[in-house]
Amino acid sequence: MPQIALIVNGTPHAVDADGDTPLLDVLRNHLGLKGTKFGCGLEQCGCCMVLIDGTPEKSCGKAVSTVAGRQIVTIEGIGTPERPHPLQLAFLDEQAGQCGYCLPGILVTAKALLDRNTAPSRAEIAAALDDNICRCGSHNRILRAVASAAERLRAGAVR
Ligand code: FES
Ligand code: FES
Repeated sequence: MPQIALIVNGTPHAVDADGDTPLLDVLRNHLGLKGTKFGCGLEQCGCCMVLIDGTPEKSCGKAVSTVAGRQIVTIEGIGTPERPHPLQLAFLDEQAGQCGYCLPGILVTAKALLDRNTAPSRAEIAAALDDNICRCGSHNRILRAVASAAERLRAGAVR
């Protein structure tokens, strides 16, 4: 089995996996990073979104061989319980979610948006999250939370 070199949340890994294995499987089952979720497995729901070189991409349909050597960021790389990202604090304050299953994908997608646009409009936030489905219907609170996080970041919150 070939070894594939991955950089996940800034840490290099050498993973024994077939090159066609979905990145999502490698993250969850080889590296133990369970934050990224399996939803549809068909690149339709956005549960499995991670950042690849700063761009949100669905990891369920992405062969691990195609991301060797690239910078991969999962929800575990966004913040920790001890040091949450302003997005995570805003989501808690707005109670933006019910079951929470969609939130890892939504948070990484929202982070990519705020990294490139510090003052997104509601329409821009909705467009950025267009590929992320929330089955609980928390969309309004999610949009409010992302706008609130942008405000916090503009006010100097540490990311
Ligand atoms: S699990 Fe990847 S998009 Fe649904
Ligand atoms: S909070 Fe349940 S799917 Fe979004």
